[in-house]
Amino acid sequence: MRIVMIGAGYVGLVSGACFADFGHDVTCVDKAEDKIARLHAGVMPIYEPGLDSLVAKNVAQKRLSFTTDLADAVRGADAVFIAVGTPSRRGDGQADLSYVYAAAEEVAGHLDGFTVIVNKSTVPVGTGDEVEAIVRRTNPQADFAVVSNPEFLREGAAIEDFKRPDRVVLGVEDERAKAVMQNIYRPLNLNESPILFTGRRTSELIKYAANAFLAMKITFINEMADLCEVLGADVQQVARGIGLDKRIGGKFLHAGPGYGGSCFPKDTLALTRTAQEAGRPTRLIETTVAVNADRKKAMATRIAAAAGGDLTGRRVAVLGLTFKPNTDDMRDAPSLDIVPALLALGAEVHAFDPEGRHEAEPLLPGITFADGPYEAAEGAAVLAILTEWDQFRALDLRRLKAVMAAPVVVDLRNIYRTSEMAEAGFTYSAIGRGAG
Ligand code: UDX
Repeated sequence: MRIVMIGAGYVGLVSGACFADFGHDVTCVDKAEDKIARLHAGVMPIYEPGLDSLVAKNVAQKRLSFTTDLADAVRGADAVFIAVGTPSRRGDGQADLSYVYAAAEEVAGHLDGFTVIVNKSTVPVGTGDEVEAIVRRTNPQADFAVVSNPEFLREGAAIEDFKRPDRVVLGVEDERAKAVMQNIYRPLNLNESPILFTGRRTSELIKYAANAFLAMKITFINEMADLCEVLGADVQQVARGIGLDKRIGGKFLHAGPGYGGSCFPKDTLALTRTAQEAGRPTRLIETTVAVNADRKKAMATRIAAAAGGDLTGRRVAVLGLTFKPNTDDMRDAPSLDIVPALLALGAEVHAFDPEGRHEAEPLLPGITFADGPYEAAEGAAVLAILTEWDQFRALDLRRLKAVMAAPVVVDLRNIYRTSEMAEAGFTYSAIGRGAG
């Protein structure tokens, strides 16, 4: 199959490289000339484990190429995937679809023979209808069908998620398009990943429903964690105790500083807007959004309390700035709420993140970026772990204690045992572990 991927961002690049690895002929198109030039030189625009070697292999084997020339790429393609950004619109929080619509219009003018246009970007219900109308208006002669194919990739595990997905969802309302999509995903089907064909609107809603449910699940365990702290219970055991019930499932029950990232905050907000506009507000999701926003803000107070209350002129070490490990992505990271709040409390913040420094620097002015965890900890009155990077899981506690002004650790990701921290002489507080 000849596949075109519009948008060489996170989703487009990972999906394009994986399709090429399945043996398809893939062209990734992006308007940003510098990005395409760097991809030609083998430089990835994002950090994702395994992506650079997957891209290099498929470029060398001539199944994957990059261009800024959309017209040339689209001519003769079997499927054109739209994988451009849909950020939250300023003001109302609904998804901004201008990039999707611009891509649809541009693609329309160059269609040649039957082509499937696939929406991979996360788009509100009804966007497929609008894309179809735009293409028809722009090129009344075009022979095409519009399909919805949401992505469920976790950053940091995106290649694995793409190649061995729990399911593939395809919103298809045209038999020829169904055959094309079956061909494209055939390698996965042979891997026994279920492929679910639905109506287009249903498929669009599945993406939002999945993310909203997961965001709600995290928020639920976060509230249980708060309860555990006052009731003398342990949230990790609560999570295990409920997660072993197959109806609940053990995943996404890690209590923490609140969810962040490029999907959950934006998609939960957009779903509440869609529901409000449709006259059926989703109160559970509205509450999830509000509880999570408050939670991120409250984390700075928790860190200050561990250090005795007053942070004025005192040094705070922060380990981890990205919204989760194995990514350099800072979008809606809890650190973007927590660090400014620490600065507002008068703290001097020294932070270290293994991959996120470049992205974090312009977003977090007024802090010092350290070269490692121990450098960040030097002279600190308290050390806060914001992201659970593997390299923070086995810190040399003796060395840490020796460089800090006071041995106080606030672990917002529960990656240490209370007993080991106590033995090492730290005052340690974590999330939801009222039982010690
Ligand atoms: C998510 C979805 O998992 C994916 O299916 C969707 O397509 C895109 O959004 P991603 O944003 O990459 O993926 O990260 P994910 O691993 O889901 O984590 C999101 C946020 O939730 C992070 O801030 C993470 O720290 C937090 N989280 C996750 C928790 O606090 N507890 C958990 O148990 C799981």
